[in-house]
Amino acid sequence: MKAIRFHNYGGPEVLRLDDIPRPVPGPGELLIKVHAATVNPVDWTVRQGHMQQFLPLKLPFVPGWDLSGVVETIGAGVGNDEVIASLPLAHNRNGTYAEYTIVTEGEMAAKPRTLDHLQASTIGVAGLTAWRALFETAQLAAGQKVLIHRAAGGVGTFAVQFAHWKGAYVLGTASTENQEFLRQLGVDQPIDYKKNRFEDVASDVDVVLDTFGGEVQERSWKTLRKGGILVSLVGPPAADQATRHGVRAVFHANSPSAMALAEIAKLIDSAGDCPCAIATGAMHSDRCWRRESYVQANSGVSCCYHRRRSFLKLCKILVTIDNR
Ligand SMILES: NC(=O)c1ccc[n+]([C@@H]2O[C@H](COP(=O)([O-])OP(=O)(O)OC[C@H]3O[C@@H](n4cnc5c(N)ncnc54)[C@H](OP(=O)(O)O)[C@@H]3O)[C@@H](O)[C@H]2O)c1
Repeated sequence: MKAIRFHNYGGPEVLRLDDIPRPVPGPGELLIKVHAATVNPVDWTVRQGHMQQFLPLKLPFVPGWDLSGVVETIGAGVGNDEVIASLPLAHNRNGTYAEYTIVTEGEMAAKPRTLDHLQASTIGVAGLTAWRALFETAQLAAGQKVLIHRAAGGVGTFAVQFAHWKGAYVLGTASTENQEFLRQLGVDQPIDYKKNRFEDVASDVDVVLDTFGGEVQERSWKTLRKGGILVSLVGPPAADQATRHGVRAVFHANSPSAMALAEIAKLIDSAGDCPCAIATGAMHSDRCWRRESYVQANSGVSCCYHRRRSFLKLCKILVTIDNR
């Protein structure tokens, strides 16, 4: 089968399209034919070797942490179910940038009927992270106020819609260009970070979803009400700052959850007539790439970090690997 691998750490140019044996599922594992996978910030972070200490890899390695595809074999039987999946960050098998990959039942759920594979593949990392961070870690409830940083990004796009659906009052930050997009997603109070400092307009917030760390986290503390919670997706937040502001602070790391994936899929399929239909990042993508263009796709994502301005347009691109 074809698989995209890196043989050594580095930029997008280290990615190779290789022929490797199709994986064979062991007990409790399923072989999935991958129809689509997405590029997320974690892909380039791992590929560049920034996570070597925490996540030592056996190279060559097939990256990719989510998918939409079809169950090829279930143990001895044969299945044809359409599924979405999210792999654990640390695993000792190949990822989803391949024609076939292995998942376990705890990592997958039925694909939403109303989405195609490209759209559905965006759920595994971005959607699941947003869902679990808001509803499991922060316990966001109806009537609460939530500040979502990077609201126009992959995680943010889902987080805004989930929070809006829950009945929370949603504040979201994005550039001038994305203010209308935020309103369409369900942001009650869009904040243009190019024109305003968010801490000047956001106050008494119950939950901050911190997708930046650093200076953005530093400036976020004062937006929280006493007893509120900051959930960081980038690393353990500053505990001393949390104590000083009388708030809680937690690092949320995405991990697989068949139950949460199933809940998201159910919500997406039932959202047809809602004023704010739950949409996936893919629906707002400018482009998607076929498998042969994986270097270009990954270049897009790594640009995001180093050159913030190009980040703006490129980051809406989530879906990249289309094996059809
Ligand atoms: N802990 C975990 O398990 C986990 C899981 C997933 C992601 N993450 C982390 O969460 C973060 C977000 O990931 P993602 O995939 O959502 O990122 P992304 O899609 O790459 O984010 C891109 C978005 O960032 C926005 N942006 C850039 N500068 C901004 C600013 N100053 N203020 C507000 N928005 C700004 C851009 O909006 P504009 O174009 O409007 O500027 C763009 O839409 C990353 O750091 C990622 O590593 C962590």
